[in-house]
Amino acid sequence: MLLRYLLLCSLSYNLLSYEQKTAKTKSEICPEVTQVNLAAVPFYAHFKGHFQLGTGFTPSYLKDQDLTRHIFKNFSSLTSENAFKFSIVQPHHGSFDFSQTDLIVDVAQKEKKEVVGHTLIWETMNPSWLFKGADGKDRSRQELLKIMKDHIFTVMGRYRGKVKGWDVVNEAIMKDGTYRESDWYRIIGEDYILKAYQFAAEADPEAELYYNDYGLYGEKKLLATVEMIKKLQEQGLNIHTVGFQGHLMLNWPAVSDLERAIVELNKLGVMVAVTELDVTVLPGAWEHLNKSIKELDSHKYNPYIGGLPMDVEKKQADRYREVFEVLLRHSEKISRVTLWAPNDGVSWMNDFPVRGRRDYAAVFDRKNRVKKSYFEILTLLKNNNP
Ligand code: GLA
Repeated sequence: MLLRYLLLCSLSYNLLSYEQKTAKTKSEICPEVTQVNLAAVPFYAHFKGHFQLGTGFTPSYLKDQDLTRHIFKNFSSLTSENAFKFSIVQPHHGSFDFSQTDLIVDVAQKEKKEVVGHTLIWETMNPSWLFKGADGKDRSRQELLKIMKDHIFTVMGRYRGKVKGWDVVNEAIMKDGTYRESDWYRIIGEDYILKAYQFAAEADPEAELYYNDYGLYGEKKLLATVEMIKKLQEQGLNIHTVGFQGHLMLNWPAVSDLERAIVELNKLGVMVAVTELDVTVLPGAWEHLNKSIKELDSHKYNPYIGGLPMDVEKKQADRYREVFEVLLRHSEKISRVTLWAPNDGVSWMNDFPVRGRRDYAAVFDRKNRVKKSYFEILTLLKNNNP
């Protein structure tokens, strides 16, 4: 019976043109066949000749066999979401914990995936000992520089030849184009950025060095970032890639701003990457940052607990399509696109900016099945053979 159904489905499905297939979404026609058919080709393989396709990755994913299989099949690069961050790798001064990072690097080597080391120097996720000495006072510039150097040398040194490149500094520039007044900036000064890249270049001369930030769609932030990268280049540093995160909403930002960022950054002679791509479908809730949905009007802020309505999924697919249109148009400037979550269920958007919502920000659903967005992207790829 099932076999007959699958056969019938397969036949009727194959009679459709490619456009009909993508317009309709296969799950509307016959879900089982759709998923079976698609299972054959890894998603990243469709991007061959354009750019790497990566995913955000967390060691806990390995506990879920289906998710693990899905990730290793469909993505060629892994960016660890948190494991490489300072507070996890060096929780106590001079005492390093590589249990999570080793796990990622080992499994990536086994599965022949690239690893992006994210991130060495950032404003947040720092241990409490980092910026203050035993007396409770701020460390001196020299002291903090030494800590920075030791950290970068130890972490990068351990994974030399195993981690392809590093987000050396994450999120250094503010929306208005000024430097973010992180503790690194406050104690060391503006040149903490330069120092971090110099240490990184010494620690592993073969590794690619990246700069990563969000909101590079804004003109002031983009210009300031361009200036910052120029300064690093003038000091002889080879910044391989500038990554913009790409946490998008259905209607924000304009793709023309995304395009401007790609073009302007590439003029510096660097590659560009989209490092944390997702498209939330939920209403903005920044004014309720870190609250739980239990404290809010769930009807208003968590409208899709029963499932993602077709029309919203379609809007999201249109959004992914317009973004990938730009990315494919400039694919010679782009080294990698990383989908921040491998599926809707594990996406951080379910808990940010408000905890406990049900978002659908990824290209794959909670069961790792393809969504409409997947077909839109696939259609574009078909029309954009390199
Ligand atoms: C920022 C950071 C990431 C991660 C996300 C949330 O974009 O760069 O490392 O913490 O927030 O998943």
